[in-house]
Amino acid sequence: MATTADTLGNQQTDLTQQRILVLDFGSQYAQLIARRVREQSVYCEIVRHDISLEAIVRRQPKGLILSGGPSSVYQEGAPKCDPKIFELGIPILGICYGMQLSCEMLGGKVKSHSAGEYGRAQLELLGEDPLLANVPATSQVWMSHGDQVDSVADCYIPLAKTSTCPIAAVRHQTLPIFGLQFHPEVTHSEAGSIMLGNFVKQICGCEGLWKLSDFAKQTIESLRQRIGNKRVICGLSGGVDSSVVAAILAKAIGQQLSCILVDNGLLRAGEKESVVEAFGKHFETDLHVVDAREKFLGTLAGITEPQEKRRRIGHAFIDCFKAEAEKVDDAHFLAQGTLYPDVIESGAAPDGPAATIKLHHNVGGLPEELGFELIEPLRDLFKDEVRRLGLELGLPEEMVWRHPFPGPGLAVRVLGEVTEAKLAVLRAADTILIHELVDSGWYRKTSQAFAVLLPVQSVGVMGDARTYENVLAIRSVDTSDFMTADWSHLPYELLGKISTRIINEVKGVNRVVYDISSKPPATIEWE
Ligand code: XMP
Repeated sequence: MATTADTLGNQQTDLTQQRILVLDFGSQYAQLIARRVREQSVYCEIVRHDISLEAIVRRQPKGLILSGGPSSVYQEGAPKCDPKIFELGIPILGICYGMQLSCEMLGGKVKSHSAGEYGRAQLELLGEDPLLANVPATSQVWMSHGDQVDSVADCYIPLAKTSTCPIAAVRHQTLPIFGLQFHPEVTHSEAGSIMLGNFVKQICGCEGLWKLSDFAKQTIESLRQRIGNKRVICGLSGGVDSSVVAAILAKAIGQQLSCILVDNGLLRAGEKESVVEAFGKHFETDLHVVDAREKFLGTLAGITEPQEKRRRIGHAFIDCFKAEAEKVDDAHFLAQGTLYPDVIESGAAPDGPAATIKLHHNVGGLPEELGFELIEPLRDLFKDEVRRLGLELGLPEEMVWRHPFPGPGLAVRVLGEVTEAKLAVLRAADTILIHELVDSGWYRKTSQAFAVLLPVQSVGVMGDARTYENVLAIRSVDTSDFMTADWSHLPYELLGKISTRIINEVKGVNRVVYDISSKPPATIEWE
């Protein structure tokens, strides 16, 4: 096991030494596979499917996982890996397309299957194997394939089947190569994490060195060494990522950290106060709260077009941040909450997949011309790891589990022109929604929930009087990556309670509707 020495000469374990590489064949689940491996305390990186043999060898992985993908292995131009990876002697697990590819490249046959198999299926084990240790004789798995392995010649041994897929799991006769036709990374595959754990621990021999508590200690130490006695600026939004960045820096360098929170008047009720409480009091950082409410509302006056609203908010934010940063003497570094998915999706990961076109409109990103050296302590982490790290660092639960909140804030949830009066209505409704979700235990079960004030009036009746008031929409989605999302199936009783409370308690709303659109084709935000 590799170790490195810190400044005091103490030996530290290299947490990323025992790593698994996921070769990405275009799967929507590649990041999920990597997250599931990391849940086994094993470091995992995503690389392109055609990564060179040398680049693989250089990284010294303990195992390789070939992901699924949308192609058919027998089609011209289908993505392939270097066939020599099968001769490296490193254990390989092919998932779905990855299994079909490994079988086909080593003599098996893959065919299109008339029925295909999508959704839940019952897996039946055909024999014993270390990959399937502790997996029940029958269990539910998640399938999503049109093609399947039709024959495996003499080279592979079938390990499991489903009613329509006679070869649902395989192992090679002589090489440490395995395949699963279903998706063990998806939670609907009941024993999926047992199988992934068997692969990375028993078969690849990883000991489980990737621990966030050790990551925190080592990152704090390396931040101290890199920063020395210089000053770091960090923008705070109240969101999870920037809070965790600030928390780890506060632990590392204490008073050398200056945090800037721009109060743009578009925050949720109580948001500014909770940041001040956490960072002004608990972490005792040098916290600058910029009151820019008038500036933002002024620049938004009369503007109804969504892109123009976003553009103006982006500019106003940069102006405010820059002006405040200039007041901080000797600032040398700027800390940002870039995460591993941002690094992968921007195409910036070494040997990682090409950039995906991400419809993201991040106004929080600050331009390079500010002239600071960048610090990105969360670059290697997934969002769920960032949350666990936040708890490890002592951030309050409600901050760590907070749903994402867009940079332009409530401005993209007041459709049309943004005014102080409309923001007040939205804030009040939003507060009730979040309170009811937390109270019923649904806040943690959904990924993002919020209210949207529509520029639509409708007729109602309250007491004996006719009303003509606003319609408010409730949006709640379930998603693992925010690129695709399903609307949350909240209980009717809960929706009923939220609606009744909002209509009774929030003046200006007489009708509440629930948004049942998935993404795509709808987006999560309405503007
Ligand atoms: P959409 O609406 O594109 O949102 O489906 C996907 C996720 O991104 C968030 N979002 C933003 N985040 N600045 C941000 O930092 C933005 O301008 C922005 N717009 C959308 C959205 O809340 C969801 O989590």
